[in-house]
Amino acid sequence: MFNVIIVKDYDALSAEAFKVMKEVIDSKDRPVLGLATGSSPIGLYQNMIADHQKNGTDYTQVLTFNLDEYVGLPKEHSQTYYTFMHENLFQGIEIPEENVHLPLGNGDLEKNCADYEKAMEDVQVDIQLLGIGSNGHIGFNEPGTAFDSLTHIVTLKEKTRQDNARFFDPLGEEVPTQAITMGIATIMKAKKILLVASGSGKAEAVAGMINGPVTEEVPASILQNHPDVTVIVDEAAASKL
Ligand code: GLP
Repeated sequence: MFNVIIVKDYDALSAEAFKVMKEVIDSKDRPVLGLATGSSPIGLYQNMIADHQKNGTDYTQVLTFNLDEYVGLPKEHSQTYYTFMHENLFQGIEIPEENVHLPLGNGDLEKNCADYEKAMEDVQVDIQLLGIGSNGHIGFNEPGTAFDSLTHIVTLKEKTRQDNARFFDPLGEEVPTQAITMGIATIMKAKKILLVASGSGKAEAVAGMINGPVTEEVPASILQNHPDVTVIVDEAAASKL
């Protein structure tokens, strides 16, 4: 069930997403947040940091689980999602390191997937934040991923690697070919989903998610079967609705 909120631009989207996130954080003693990377959530994260600094919102009792991580990069590499989350959110909200969780993209990958899924079985995610790929992917669940998938290793589609090349090109490096991601079934277990999308490049994926058939070819279309999904889009991303 979608609650679709269309706003003018990215700043309005980020402010609106912050309200939804804050309500969940305030409603629980020990909130569990499912978090995402990419450019879409950065404005929301800036709002969370500003609120923490201004109003002292406390993150010492908050747990976080990130959607995904590249395979094969050292943890401290500038383009890991571990680094992204520390730079764009975790440092700014002073969340204790032991409270944050990301899949591990090095070592025994199968074991890492199983361990991550196990850690998430012991808690329920109160709100899962999602962006959407231009091909309809969520996390790194590419088109064709089984709807019953749990945390798993994926081979990235060429389109996704091209979309993300802008971060690696300046380093003279290639986008990794694999990643670990929460599965579709893992994502669907969250109590509430908050999906944010901005810009015309997302318009087709957003329309497919909301109005298209529920199909593994558009991973985000499974969200039609989730009881509580808030979608916040700017006018450009909503242009094909
Ligand atoms: C990446 C991430 C996704 C993200 C998507 C969109 O591939 N794995 O979680 O939603 O890209 O990214 P952006 O928000 O930068 O468009």
